[in-house]
Amino acid sequence: MTKALRTRPLVLDDPLFPDLKDRIIHKTGLAYYQDKDADLARILAGRLSALGLQGCGAYADCLSGSRGQAEMDELVSELTIGETYFFRHPEVFSALRHSILPEIIAANRESRTLRIWSAGCSTGAEPYSISILLKEHFSAELAGWQAVVTGTDIDKKYLAFASRAQYQEWALRATPEPERSRYFEQTPSGWQLRPAFRKHVSFHHHNLIRDALPNSKLGLQELDIILCRNVAIYFSRDQINDLMNRFHASLNPNGWLITGPAEIGMDRPGGFQPVNLNGLIVYRKSDQPVAGAAPVWTAPVLAYPALQTEPTEPLAQSESLVADVVPTVQETSAEDAASQERELMRLADRGQWVAALGLARRVIERADSTLEARLKAIQVLAEAGDMEQAVQTLKRLLFIDRRCLLAHYHLGLLLSSQGDRRMARKAFMNAYDLAVAQPVDEPVPGGEGLLAGQLADMALLRSKHEDAL
Ligand SMILES: C[S@@+](CC[C@H](N)C(=O)[O-])C[C@H]1O[C@@H](n2cnc3c(N)ncnc32)[C@H](O)[C@@H]1O
Repeated sequence: MTKALRTRPLVLDDPLFPDLKDRIIHKTGLAYYQDKDADLARILAGRLSALGLQGCGAYADCLSGSRGQAEMDELVSELTIGETYFFRHPEVFSALRHSILPEIIAANRESRTLRIWSAGCSTGAEPYSISILLKEHFSAELAGWQAVVTGTDIDKKYLAFASRAQYQEWALRATPEPERSRYFEQTPSGWQLRPAFRKHVSFHHHNLIRDALPNSKLGLQELDIILCRNVAIYFSRDQINDLMNRFHASLNPNGWLITGPAEIGMDRPGGFQPVNLNGLIVYRKSDQPVAGAAPVWTAPVLAYPALQTEPTEPLAQSESLVADVVPTVQETSAEDAASQERELMRLADRGQWVAALGLARRVIERADSTLEARLKAIQVLAEAGDMEQAVQTLKRLLFIDRRCLLAHYHLGLLLSSQGDRRMARKAFMNAYDLAVAQPVDEPVPGGEGLLAGQLADMALLRSKHEDAL
């Protein structure tokens, strides 16, 4: 057992832990940790062991001392998860290209300015993807314009990474050739974004909860587009509502707000009009509060990379799978399973996909892994190219529980990525049939808050998409 794991229970039992926790949440705004004591304690145990300190009191003193800010930066880096990649959710980039940017460019013809903000940009894939989009498709229209893309994040390490603009395969998993080589130069240490795409992008440290907004010093005012995707997970409902008001004040009239697909908490933000662009819900600033608007839901655009492999055999409940369903590794601590899940995301995020793959396999083998963790592990397997194990694992899940909605849905995604449209459609319809049989507001097991009605919409949308291809 590592030293950090040994100290974690001590951190949890430390009478000063609650004060330290409050202080950290207050300072960072990361309300996510309000009910994640075990995770926070694990991270603090790691910091204590790195610093050679004993107990929460000593750590609190360190935060107040001369190197307190530097330590807070280190801690924030441990507390955040920066999962991101280029052209994440292609639907968003399609909506920007075909609807949102043409409209803004027409409206700003006189001022000849375009300001786009990627809020919570992590290691920079999102702002750079936008810069690529602008350069590739709007160069002529934007010649002589002041067009800027700003990326901000709470985590200084991510920002330093973003400024280097060098990425590993994992960040480029949705950027196939020949585009990949057009945008990046392959070097021995990774894929270096070409200078033309870095030119108009700048990065700044900014805490969405604590720092001023609008913010003229950082150019975060009179914005045309704000992207704040996959960030609200860290925030409480009150924090989100407050942030929406400050986003509203930072946007130009008719400016756009684009949130992440799974950010249910950010649906129906006041002062914004939801707009449906080919199934993607985005928000346009409106001066009318949108009281009582119909709930909108953006279908999560989970997707696996297209693979050039042979289509997999259709799913069948096979006797030979019986032996497989017995997990080989028996582990007991639910907390450890949760830590492994976080670690899985962390490794994947840092491009250490070989290590992520190993962990994904361990997560799958554990007896006590949650359904969420298993589904995440399956996604890592698929994205790292081990399609066979990904499919096998889904088969196991379905063997154990034929009614596992999300396993059917994920199977549809996998089959779709392999080009097996007929079986993908069937899997989506299986998910749909099971979902509509449940109350619409029934949470889907393993769905992190996803409701049966929402999954039904997503599955139907996906199956129609397969038909339309
Ligand atoms: C999962 S990443 C999302 C990256 C990118 N937006 C995307 O969707 O690909 C979430 C990012 O939000 C950042 N973050 C979390 N809390 C923040 C805060 N209070 N202010 C600014 N950024 C924050 C994290 O550091 C992390 O880089």
